[in-house]
Amino acid sequence: MTSESPLDATRAEEAWWKHAVIYQVYPRSFQDSNGDGVGDLAGVIARLDYLVALGVDAVWLSPIFCSPMDDFGYDVSDHTAIDPLFGDMSDFRRLVAEAHSRGLRVILDYIPNHTSDRHSWFKESRAARASRKRDWYVWRDPAPGGGAPNNWVSEFGGSAWTWDEATSQYYYHGFLRSQPDLNWRNPEVVEAMLDVLRFWLDEGVDGFRVDAIHFLFEDESLTDDPPNPHWHEGMPPTERVLRDHSLDQPEVHDAVALMRRLCDSYEDERVLIGEAYLPIERLMAYYGGALDGFHLPFNFHLITTPWTPTSISILVEAYESKLPNGGWPNWVLGNHDRHRIASRVGRDQARAAAMLLLTLRGTPTLYQGDELGMTNGDIAPDQVRDPWELNMPGLGLGRDPVRTPMLWDESPNAGFSAASPWLPLNADWSARHAAGQADDPASILNLYRRLIALRRREPALSLGDYKALAATDQVLAYERRFGARRLGVALNLSGEPAAIAGMTGRVLLSTHATDVGAALTGRLDLAPNEGLLFEFDR
Ligand code: GLC
Repeated sequence: MTSESPLDATRAEEAWWKHAVIYQVYPRSFQDSNGDGVGDLAGVIARLDYLVALGVDAVWLSPIFCSPMDDFGYDVSDHTAIDPLFGDMSDFRRLVAEAHSRGLRVILDYIPNHTSDRHSWFKESRAARASRKRDWYVWRDPAPGGGAPNNWVSEFGGSAWTWDEATSQYYYHGFLRSQPDLNWRNPEVVEAMLDVLRFWLDEGVDGFRVDAIHFLFEDESLTDDPPNPHWHEGMPPTERVLRDHSLDQPEVHDAVALMRRLCDSYEDERVLIGEAYLPIERLMAYYGGALDGFHLPFNFHLITTPWTPTSISILVEAYESKLPNGGWPNWVLGNHDRHRIASRVGRDQARAAAMLLLTLRGTPTLYQGDELGMTNGDIAPDQVRDPWELNMPGLGLGRDPVRTPMLWDESPNAGFSAASPWLPLNADWSARHAAGQADDPASILNLYRRLIALRRREPALSLGDYKALAATDQVLAYERRFGARRLGVALNLSGEPAAIAGMTGRVLLSTHATDVGAALTGRLDLAPNEGLLFEFDR
């Protein structure tokens, strides 16, 4: 990318992924181009200009590889081929070329923990105990008294062990029984899975989001997981045990270091992002002891932390203080697995949340549709597609509500597809689509655009230091500083008017009004749910 101004030059010195805004596309639900009700790669290409106008730098695509779609692509049956539902290799190459020509990077999903049971590797592994690939997956004899080898549970419900009648052994699966776990202790598996990375790196992708990384290894001695003393009725049955022996085992870090070394052997800083829902301390280990792990182990803590100034302030401090030296922070408000931010905090508060995400120190990842203020969709019982909900109904685990189609315009099916979409449109689609919002200066879409544009212009926001200023009952305030440039952010996380003292400067952006340039003379007044971004007087 060319550097035209001193600010651009500052950014150019830092790795691109540090000052980038990443946008997650869930391809099934982004844009359909061939009228089958499911999104595809040609659809993504057709919407690249929307992403350019939004101002994001990189697009992470949820899985597009050949898959029986039991877990909607997270069950891969061929790692180096595009599923026909999404297109083919020529579509993929066109997507990379079209994205790159617009200055957009492309990040792929990489699913190292498991494959589909219809992957040729598993078919061969399962064929016989003597199979050459038997040890590519995790096979075990029954427990001495019969039954599953131990008490480990599948994330998606039930035992993590499935009995294979033909060869009289159990195989392990951290997720669905049709998603058998690969055995990363087998060097051939490691090599084969690194080859998958090589394949896509050679295709010119700019990095990977690595799926479910803390599932990669399990305790070799098969120790039972201990009971969870905090479990109670209403919690998912999978949380009856603490996953001490089946998740987050020490060997994982060596495997991540191999992935990283491979990415580092390519030019242009291919980014490696890890998905692990873990407490902050354990998450930090995923940067790698010598910063030889993930560039960005996803930080999901804004998804689970109570939405109050104090809780968020404590979270940010804890996260910042535990980052390893040289480790770069990152923040996430939502994704294809978790309830939408506008449903969690409410539609009004979603604007303040947008300001938070885009003004904290660290790379933000935003999920498709959040920039439109989309809420969870309503899914009738006969419309449920997510296996998690189908296996454990009624616990609120279902992910279909956050995977409903993007809302583009007022044409039939919101411009998503010429056919009836695979999941229903959100009920409020006609008032929420992108085309309508693009023309409305006060829309949340335009707020996102302004925030991203400001973040791009201001190194204080993308690269500057973070300092907490205040956390009152209602207001969270902090400063971002780069050299002499000091910017302030004040977020009213309540539905009542609020004020804080001691702020003098000039407003750069409000989530509510367009009164940019207003002077702050000590007392800062905030409307309900309002966020203000301002520059301090020098
Ligand atoms: C990750 C994905 C999720 C998937 C699971 C199993 O958590 O984000 O969608 O179901 O891994 O691959």
